[in-house]
Amino acid sequence: MQGRAILVTGATGGIGGETSARLAAQGASIVVADLDQELAHAKAAHIIATGGQAMGVACDITQPEACERAVAAAVERFGRLDGMVNCAGVSRPHDSLTLPPADWARMIDVQLNGAFYIAQACGRAMQESGGAIVFITSTNAEAAFPRRAPYCAGKAGVAMLTKVLAIEWANLGIRVNAVGPAYVATEMTQRNIAAGNVNETQIKGRIPLGRLAQPVDVADAVAFLLSDQASFITGHSLYVDGGWLAYGYF
Ligand SMILES: NC(=O)c1ccc[n+]([C@@H]2O[C@H](COP(=O)([O-])OP(=O)(O)OC[C@H]3O[C@@H](n4cnc5c(N)ncnc54)[C@H](O)[C@@H]3O)[C@@H](O)[C@H]2O)c1
Repeated sequence: MQGRAILVTGATGGIGGETSARLAAQGASIVVADLDQELAHAKAAHIIATGGQAMGVACDITQPEACERAVAAAVERFGRLDGMVNCAGVSRPHDSLTLPPADWARMIDVQLNGAFYIAQACGRAMQESGGAIVFITSTNAEAAFPRRAPYCAGKAGVAMLTKVLAIEWANLGIRVNAVGPAYVATEMTQRNIAAGNVNETQIKGRIPLGRLAQPVDVADAVAFLLSDQASFITGHSLYVDGGWLAYGYF
């Protein structure tokens, strides 16, 4: 990762924060992109204070112009862009019969449309020199959960987007992959546990390895897919799920 510039969206969140720290520790320059400018700057300052290279930028990935601006700021600051990790996301379980159309639209906007907008902006910046993109999807790209229709549909859409961009941009030297975690011990999961959307004991019982994922489990998989060790891997979804998707028994 030494000398590479990597833009991370949702970079002040649980998975994005850990991934940013992990990549910075490996020598990458991190573009900390998130909704809140102050939090993004604070996270970048923390990376710098711990010996890394970083800059913070406000970016709502549902806004194509904001994505273009974030990428332009990254290229201006670091002179290049080598990779992007899309960790931005929201989770708001809701019964499908009563889900307001605006909530459906917002969820698809963040999970699916935003993933495309930020990938498009980064792809344009990397089309001459190549690079690597990793989308954070979910086991919900493959496995249906109730009360999560737009979340599941959005993540499944990103898994297919991963394949399409991988084959379309292969000749540009841009690899595109996805990492799909099962439940990760982050604030998103804590919020769902607190709201009664998730039963932690049941979840642990459903995961063959018997625990929630830690953000570092996800960050390790992302770092691998961005690295040259994964130079022949593209269009792939890697599930970091403790065996969740393999499990088909009771
Ligand atoms: N936590 C889990 O159990 C879990 C499991 C599978 C997949 N995921 C996925 O991993 C990703 C990160 O989740 P997390 O657990 O770190 O959540 P988190 O809530 O800790 O972080 C999400 C981050 O995304 C940012 N964000 C939200 N909307 C945005 C937008 N429009 N533009 C830019 N940034 C935006 C938030 O500000 C926040 O910093 C999400 O895509 C989520 O769906 C999480």
